[in-house]
Amino acid sequence: MKNIVVLVSGGGTNLQALIDAQNRGKIPNGKISCVISSNPDAYALQRAEKNDIATAVIRRKDYENQLAYDKALVGLLKSKNADLIVLAGFMTILGEYVIQSFRNQIINIHPSLIPSFCGEGFYGLRVHQEALKKGVKVTGATVHFVNEICDGGAIILQKAVEVQNGDTPEILQKRVMEQAEWQILPSAVSLFCDDKIIVKADNTTEIHF
Ligand code: GRF
Repeated sequence: MKNIVVLVSGGGTNLQALIDAQNRGKIPNGKISCVISSNPDAYALQRAEKNDIATAVIRRKDYENQLAYDKALVGLLKSKNADLIVLAGFMTILGEYVIQSFRNQIINIHPSLIPSFCGEGFYGLRVHQEALKKGVKVTGATVHFVNEICDGGAIILQKAVEVQNGDTPEILQKRVMEQAEWQILPSAVSLFCDDKIIVKADNTTEIHF
């Protein structure tokens, strides 16, 4: 059984999708053991508490520099025996020390089809604004491993979502969450816990469904 630690900053609808999947028996080889928030007021913390999942808060501003923060976060993750770390709307940048300490054990959900609309500054509604500005007819979501490059780690799962006439960034964001993010994040977590994701040297993955 793998220990899953979920890192959040906000509403936590992706965390909820994971909790629901766990409660429905869809993650048989994993258990969400802790939710860590960068923000003490994140609603995601209440979702965890309602489901008897341990919580912790760690704020970047309480540390003098990136390395001090990274070391504190790694210490916390190790104390929780994390096998898999899921970034589910986590808004604090992880430094190299964290990434190196948990190589190929950190996954992130991004609300576009990487390599479109990703990288520095592409988060939240901005991703959907840019997709609409470009006029793409299809967007979606991507689950990927986290490496030193922003949104540049090996892709695990993707799901496409249609853009419709009259979409606003808010409407598109909701459709991408409902039709893609909340589906592929639990699936990727389950695949990881089943040891079905092989990371290859060329920064791609092979999935054994
Ligand atoms: C999601 O759109 C996710 O793709 C992005 O941050 C958002 C988090 O939303 N990384 P929530 O807190 O899970 O509701």
